[in-house]
Amino acid sequence: MKIQYYDGSTKDINVLDKEVPYPDGRLIVSRTDTKGILTHCNPSFVSMSGYTKEELIGQNHYILRHPDMPAATFKDLWDTINKGQKWHGYVKNLRKDGAYYWVLATVIPNVRNNEIIGYTSVRRKPSRKKVNECIALYAKMLEKEQEDKLCPTC
Ligand SMILES: Cc1cc2nc3c(=O)[nH]c(=O)nc-3n(C[C@H](O)[C@H](O)[C@H](O)COP(=O)(O)O)c2cc1C
Repeated sequence: MKIQYYDGSTKDINVLDKEVPYPDGRLIVSRTDTKGILTHCNPSFVSMSGYTKEELIGQNHYILRHPDMPAATFKDLWDTINKGQKWHGYVKNLRKDGAYYWVLATVIPNVRNNEIIGYTSVRRKPSRKKVNECIALYAKMLEKEQEDKLCPTC
């Protein structure tokens, strides 16, 4: 299927109905510049994403965007971190092979001399109960976003 990102670019992606479980006791960490371009990722990030480190560094973080994620979740993320605040949320990420994995992410702005110079995201294993709640919630949000796109004035 084709996915369209916020900046207008599109990509053909392979989406499989296959979950890769979050590994126990691991933190998945990445850092980006102020535009969301990956500048650092730890070995757990690399192995869960299915890409090589070389394929990831310099790419937009939306490389992991799953089509089941509503746009409003990422708008909330960016609105929060651009204000210099911390954001927490459940995210379904797309792997290179088309499978997916759920994370509980905390994204924080990196501030130097009162200026945001980038962002760090640290992800933990999410509870299954919360993931199940998010599956239902995000499906409803996505449906509403698709209806609004088809008929913005309805
Ligand atoms: C530090 C940081 C970490 C992020 N982590 C993810 C992530 O794990 N998965 C994801 O889909 N988007 C993540 N994003 C959000 C993406 O930048 C992007 O907004 C999102 O994938 C949706 O793409 P779009 O805004 O082009 O529609 C992260 C952003 C930042 C700043």
